[in-house]
Amino acid sequence: MPEDFEIVSETLPPLAAGEMLLKTKYLTLDPYMRSEYMNSKRAVGPPVIGGTVSEVIESRCEGWSVGDLVVGYYGWTEYKIATAEDVQWNLENMPIEKWDTDLGEPSTALGVLGMTGYTAYHGLVNICSPQAGETVVVSAASGAVGQVVGQLAKIAGCHVVGVAGGPAKCSYCTDELGFDACVDYKAEGFGADTIKEVCPNGIDIYFENVGGDVLEAVIPNLNANCRVPICGYIARYNVDNFIKVPEGNPMIRLKELGLPILGRKGSTSGFTFFGWNAMGPEERSDVLQELSRLLQSGEQSPRGNALFPPSFSMEQDQLAACTTIKAAGTGQTRGNSKLMKKRRFW
Ligand SMILES: NC(=O)c1ccc[n+]([C@@H]2O[C@H](COP(=O)([O-])OP(=O)(O)OC[C@H]3O[C@@H](n4cnc5c(N)ncnc54)[C@H](OP(=O)(O)O)[C@@H]3O)[C@@H](O)[C@H]2O)c1
Repeated sequence: MPEDFEIVSETLPPLAAGEMLLKTKYLTLDPYMRSEYMNSKRAVGPPVIGGTVSEVIESRCEGWSVGDLVVGYYGWTEYKIATAEDVQWNLENMPIEKWDTDLGEPSTALGVLGMTGYTAYHGLVNICSPQAGETVVVSAASGAVGQVVGQLAKIAGCHVVGVAGGPAKCSYCTDELGFDACVDYKAEGFGADTIKEVCPNGIDIYFENVGGDVLEAVIPNLNANCRVPICGYIARYNVDNFIKVPEGNPMIRLKELGLPILGRKGSTSGFTFFGWNAMGPEERSDVLQELSRLLQSGEQSPRGNALFPPSFSMEQDQLAACTTIKAAGTGQTRGNSKLMKKRRFW
């Protein structure tokens, strides 16, 4: 609700040696912000967290020049004073990145060529090793992770079925992204039989983003040797202490059913919860190159276009009208930066 947040202005000091002034160009709103951040009392006060792409507009920082684009984790703020030592996602081995526009549009650094793309690739390709002819089902199919999962599975030669809410999202998955089918979980009568109709050979890989009712409809269709990478379970994020509540929780539910823990690289059947950040810097860099190659080749979409938009992101100017930064003079304040904060805990 709007009253849960406030937009405040802070005065920025002049740059010290080793610092640079960044102006946010893109920022994200991702599900983990609901599940981890919004549920934490510590979230009240500091700027709303989130991935960012920013432009260097002034620099006293070696190696960073005016006009460079910076992929970081600076949150919902208009301007930020940064240093070269800053990291992304609080991960020590993930320094801020100078965006190479040869890889893709800068906004894709917050989507397919960033966290959500890494997640899709790691969960599907690294963990499950999909094989041609297998049936892959992905929930939240039209979301930032799901749409990349489905397209990667098509490239691997799989029969790909999405689960999404509403006819528009379903036809986006089939007509635009090339999925073989997409099931509307909000339609009346949705259940295990609806999934069975489009997965006549059962499900070999279920990429879990949702939990709850969608998971229940999938379970009877899982093949004996299925792999279930659990990426998230967004249907439960509004439930208090959702990690511990068994209902609709895929980890608890699949364990109850006797599924084993998935072995490395899809070598056995079973389920596993995974995080994209399990990939080290070199692996992440290889995945970035591969996703960029796919994005630019357009080979993943039926229309030959690059159809990997970023996860929900917005031009920063949409968040708050810009405050003009005045020219910096030594020892002078330089004007204000707006940022959005969470006002209260609920
Ligand atoms: N493990 C990791 O490292 C990692 C990293 C990134 C994301 N994730 C997880 O991946 C999942 C997808 O993230 P994303 O970035 O793709 O999100 P997104 O682009 O914001 O899409 C989320 C989609 O989830 C669907 N959804 C919401 N509530 C639902 C419900 N009650 N039942 C069924 N579907 C529901 C909505 O689509 P519909 O309109 O179709 O319902 C929504 O568009 C989330 O669970 C997230 O937490 C995990």
